[in-house]
Amino acid sequence: MISLSKVAVHYRSGAKGIGAVIALRDVSLDIPGGDFVFLVGPTGAGKSTLLKLLYRDVAPTAGTVTVAGLNLSAMKPRDVPALRRRMGIILQDYGLLPERTVWENVAFACEVLEQDRREYRKRIPEVLDLVHMAHRCDAFPHQLSGGEQQRVAIARALVNRPALLLADEPTGNLDPETASGVMEVLLEANRRGATVVVATHDAASVNRLRRRVIAVEQGTIARDNGEGAYGYAN
Ligand SMILES: Nc1ncnc2c1ncn2[C@@H]1O[C@H](COP(=O)(O)OP(=O)(O)O)[C@@H](O)[C@H]1O
Ligand SMILES: [Mg+2]
Repeated sequence: MISLSKVAVHYRSGAKGIGAVIALRDVSLDIPGGDFVFLVGPTGAGKSTLLKLLYRDVAPTAGTVTVAGLNLSAMKPRDVPALRRRMGIILQDYGLLPERTVWENVAFACEVLEQDRREYRKRIPEVLDLVHMAHRCDAFPHQLSGGEQQRVAIARALVNRPALLLADEPTGNLDPETASGVMEVLLEANRRGATVVVATHDAASVNRLRRRVIAVEQGTIARDNGEGAYGYAN
């Protein structure tokens, strides 16, 4: 599903873009379809950059990135929207449309794909059920707690049944119990066949779920364990 070969990402920095920040260096990595992977590591390690490579928000400075058989290193900008429509992307700040209800926010993800309305109207209650938000389908985002908003964002990411789900600190703003509920939903999506990659600081969830853990440190992969833990002690 995902393959990185000798990938580097350098960002320009400074007022005139003269300096360079090396965000990733020589990263090689394979994530087979059906995997559930945690990306852990300190702030600034390169986790978000790694995820951004996968949805082609950044292009590699060197090396190759392949997702679902597509070479993203060579992808033209006009092909990027089609790539993103094939994946579910969940960010820390939910990103719901404030003027639309829960239902309309999820429906919007289907509308942009110009899908058959009768068909997607059946899928919306299913995904809202999955994230336990069906009873709030008429609420507006400002009427929901952070955890509820994030569950709606996950429903929106799942409604088109993407084979790949990418989440960047999806529980970053949530209390531990709510965070655990959000992780449970991602796990359920994985059980239903999606490949899931989650960058997180949620050590409790990482330790409890015992999934593959890739630790990123200073732009490289410091550790990659099958049924790993959050800490560095094993
Ligand atoms: N757009 C950018 N321009 C310049 N430097 C950036 C940019 N985005 C991230 N960086 C730098 O790249 C490094 C990795 O950042 P990031 O991938 O966001 O790490 P993480 O998600 O693990 O906190 C950091 O040093 C960060 O400051
Ligand atoms: Mg980050």
